[in-house]
Amino acid sequence: MGLDFFSVLLVLGLVLNSLLLFCNGGLTSSFVRKVEKSIDMPLDSDVFRVPPGYNAPQQVHITQGDVEGKAVIVSWVTPEAKGSNTVLYWKENSSKKLRARGKYNTYKFYNYTSGYIHHCLIRNLEYDTKYYYEVGVGKTKRKFWFYTPPEVGPDVPYTFGLIGDLGQTFDSNMTLTHYENSPTKGQAVLFVGDISYADTYPNHDNNRWDTWGRFAERSTAYQPWIWTAGNHEMDFAPEIGETKPFKPFTHRYRTPYRASGSTEPFWYSIKRGPAHIIVLSSYSAYGKYTPQYTWLEEEFPKVNRTETPWLIVLVHSPWYNSYDYHFMEGETMRVMFESWFVKNKVDVVFAGHVHAYERSERISNIAYNVVNGNCSPVKDQSAPVYITIGDGGNIEGLANKMTEPQPKYSAFREASFGHAIFSIKNRTHAHYGWHRNQDGCAVQADTMWFHNRFWYPVDDSPSFDS
Ligand SMILES: *[C@@H]1O[C@H](CO)[C@@H](O)[C@H](O)[C@H]1NC(C)=O
Ligand SMILES: *[C@@H]1O[C@H](CO)[C@@H](O)[C@H](O)[C@H]1NC(C)=O
Ligand SMILES: *[C@@H]1O[C@H](CO)[C@@H](O)[C@H](O)[C@H]1NC(C)=O
Ligand SMILES: *[C@@H]1O[C@H](CO)[C@@H](O)[C@H](O)[C@H]1NC(C)=O
Ligand SMILES: *[C@@H]1O[C@H](CO)[C@@H](O)[C@H](O)[C@H]1NC(C)=O
Ligand SMILES: [Fe+2]
Repeated sequence: MGLDFFSVLLVLGLVLNSLLLFCNGGLTSSFVRKVEKSIDMPLDSDVFRVPPGYNAPQQVHITQGDVEGKAVIVSWVTPEAKGSNTVLYWKENSSKKLRARGKYNTYKFYNYTSGYIHHCLIRNLEYDTKYYYEVGVGKTKRKFWFYTPPEVGPDVPYTFGLIGDLGQTFDSNMTLTHYENSPTKGQAVLFVGDISYADTYPNHDNNRWDTWGRFAERSTAYQPWIWTAGNHEMDFAPEIGETKPFKPFTHRYRTPYRASGSTEPFWYSIKRGPAHIIVLSSYSAYGKYTPQYTWLEEEFPKVNRTETPWLIVLVHSPWYNSYDYHFMEGETMRVMFESWFVKNKVDVVFAGHVHAYERSERISNIAYNVVNGNCSPVKDQSAPVYITIGDGGNIEGLANKMTEPQPKYSAFREASFGHAIFSIKNRTHAHYGWHRNQDGCAVQADTMWFHNRFWYPVDDSPSFDS
């Protein structure tokens, strides 16, 4: 899809608007759309189709399996029987087929029993290489492929997609379709939490975890999705005897947390090409002395900006959010960690949770110490840009009520569904663009050139003066 006439008008409109509103702090987009209910796709939808054949593997998804990007975890579900837990894989054009064996697990949730959930770690892959892989046996063999990232290093370009709070509505399908058709091809997805929204059904109907897995397979089987835990992954339901938080999530989705010295799957780090990515958990303890706090304290000194210039953090609950929804929910974590983010010059923080879009200026709020009264965010060139991208399009619908006036630190906000692309060019520059679902795939409704905080810390959010 290209730029249609309507989209061009729209972009022009936004540009004019931004000029008009700059002196007033941030921009609240004037692009207002009819708010309709977001409806989950019915169970008989095309995207939920079960692959043909007895016990055929379904819900295939991959994620990074180590710190550097030379390993991949392949996961899938066989519904009827254990089946084979072998993955056959080979380099493009190579006749030498390799084999890796995984493990499977099952779980029960209230009166639901899962299929056989397989996880298989493939190691010692070559960088920057296309691999094919196959799961299943006989007539139900299914073949997919992925690309490994380039070797970790400062000047290898790499493009990440950003998706959050996706769910499985017609809007979710549109978000995924837009992401797939983006002219700037995302090579891996940084997913900021809230996957299936199965917990919005009676007894958290876990069949909706299965439908989500089948829906997303068209992307998750071909490029790694880097998982962040959201509140809809907790599935904490003592009223039906389900008291172990994150049970469906941990059985179905893997993260390479041990490789980065973490003790739980919910916080960990990876390197991928030019980026060091830290994933945090809003729903695990992070107070002083807790495992997550201690891990993060030890993680920051390991970041080597000569090797990975770009420092990216993913977390579900945003620290800076000027919508009425989930207002200040991220505050306690901000109080704990924000000074570390500034000290270590994090480039960007991506969050979800709020079902809308927002981008901040570079600001921090770390001067306050309870007695000194210094409690307003100030412009800070060592601080990250905070982006809320919880606009995947789930069943809970859009968050369209905003706090007024728009805080000065908020650069751009709009209640629309969409996704974003963070495209790292080299050690100094990364191009960022947010795409709303109503536009043609090439249209970027909000853009920013990121200047790396370590290598090129010149002001890249000049519209805010505190
Ligand atoms: C594999 O073969 C195809 C067709 O011959 C060719 O276009 C492609 O470049 C080859 N890829 C590699 C990695 O050698
Ligand atoms: C689980 O319980 C619900 C509500 O009691 C019921 O509608 C559903 O059919 C049950 N499912 C199974 C697999 O027993
Ligand atoms: C979901 O999107 C795909 C790709 O655009 C399309 O083929 C499919 O029909 C859509 N399904 C639903 C239920 O909207
Ligand atoms: C950081 O990475 C560079 C490039 O790989 C390497 O030369 C240097 O020794 C590393 N620094 C530390 C402190 O490990
Ligand atoms: C880095 O990328 C930016 C944007 O593409 C470009 O303007 C700049 O010249 C590049 N820097 C180097 C050193 O190549
Ligand atoms: Fe959420």
